[in-house]
Amino acid sequence: MSKKGSSAVFLCSNCGTDYPKWYGQCPSCKEWGTLAEYKVKKGKRSGQSISVADPTRLKDIAKSSHHNRIKSNIKEMDRVLGGGLLPGSLVLLGGNPGIGKSTLALQIVGKVKESALYISAEESDAQIAMRAERLKVDSDKLMLSGENQIEGIIQLIEQQSPTIIIIDSIQTVYSDMIDSLPGSVGQIRESGQQLLQICKEKGVTIILIGHVTKEGIIAGPRMLEHMVDTVLYLEGDDRYNHRILRSVKNRFGATNEVGIFQMQSNGLIEIENPSELFLKERSLDVAGSAIFPSLEGTRPILVEVQALVSNASFGTPQRNVNGFDLRRLSMLIAVLEKRIKVPMGAKDTFVNLVGGLKIDDPAADLSVIGAVASSALDKSISNDVVLIGEVGLAGEVRSVSQLEKRLKESESLGFTTAIIPKYGIKNKTGLVSKIKLQKIDSVRQAFDLLFP
Ligand SMILES: Nc1ncnc2c1ncn2[C@@H]1O[C@H](COP(=O)(O)OP(=O)(O)OP(=O)(O)O)[C@@H](O)[C@H]1O
Ligand SMILES: [Mg+2]
Ligand SMILES: [Zn+2]
Repeated sequence: MSKKGSSAVFLCSNCGTDYPKWYGQCPSCKEWGTLAEYKVKKGKRSGQSISVADPTRLKDIAKSSHHNRIKSNIKEMDRVLGGGLLPGSLVLLGGNPGIGKSTLALQIVGKVKESALYISAEESDAQIAMRAERLKVDSDKLMLSGENQIEGIIQLIEQQSPTIIIIDSIQTVYSDMIDSLPGSVGQIRESGQQLLQICKEKGVTIILIGHVTKEGIIAGPRMLEHMVDTVLYLEGDDRYNHRILRSVKNRFGATNEVGIFQMQSNGLIEIENPSELFLKERSLDVAGSAIFPSLEGTRPILVEVQALVSNASFGTPQRNVNGFDLRRLSMLIAVLEKRIKVPMGAKDTFVNLVGGLKIDDPAADLSVIGAVASSALDKSISNDVVLIGEVGLAGEVRSVSQLEKRLKESESLGFTTAIIPKYGIKNKTGLVSKIKLQKIDSVRQAFDLLFP
């Protein structure tokens, strides 16, 4: 387009694709009503002759190996990242307002040995300094700035050459090139792109802080998630005042690791033994509770599965679940009804994984079906038992991954009996010695042991 002044583009707030004309439905992601107009001013970037960078020989590119990761020295954080922050990576840290994003970011730059630049247009320098004092961050390698125009931020990065840059938050950054308010899709996209460019050019690490909307997605286009290398979410759970750091995307590491913290006056404190925390307030001798040794990435965490089954008051029975897949729950309820003959048709069923963990692991099936049956039958499961196993449609129990790790954690937390799949473990390995293993190959067998 060669019109003078500024040009208009229509941008989808869902997927970030732009179009020269307006559509009611985005042709790319098929969402309705997500296209909005924004104007790009003709700046220095258009109409220039482009310079092409020389390609690099693969052999000459330094391998982004384990060794040059920047350790945040916060163990829970480094594990979620896959060993630390990679130079030249763009990280998005999302979370609800007030959850502790700024706190975590400041703790990271307070602990790294490298120089850092903390850009905050959300809070004054004095506010940040106060928080830094509370968190005992007194790094002399840390610079603060309130700059919120992207061109200014890029200039600061060029001048100061910090190793790590925090942008708190991406929603407050704007570019003069774009004719819309900070926080709008166009602004976030433009700033994101400029930051991505300098991140890759200079090999600096940039952490973008982003607010999450009520619906649980980062406000602004989803394409910010596509643009960055790593997406981390900080989530909270009221019950224990703890925070879960989860990676939902990671180009340089696994995505199933979680980091667990507790918010205290001196910042986010790492929880070394989350099982202990999660089981601290567990319900004893109550029908509808079962313990599952979950595996979050490489780490075992014991969680309490709670179920409540009650007569449906009217119409279709309700099924609700927190931290587990609803369709999987429906399947387990069908197995319970068909194979074990527990009537579930006119019952409301609620399942909750205590502590805010989200479990996407078939090994949890047996504990879920156990908790549901326990509530339906109004018989409690013995307090010192853990349940592990995948449940199939025929009511069979199948083997699961990393059984030894799960058993070892259960044993160390004082559980004395584990009901496990028959074919999961060849011999009692040297790892677990005290816990009694009851091997079963069907839900019925498990229930004979649980509810004699
Ligand atoms: N003096 C204090 N003692 C204990 N906890 C505090 C103290 N001050 C703040 N907090 C905790 O820190 C939280 C705010 O953390 P932080 O500002 O890092 O969150 P944020 O995610 O950056 O929020 P925002 O969305 O407002 O930027 C508060 O909700 C509170 O729980
Ligand atoms: Mg903040
Ligand atoms: Zn779209």
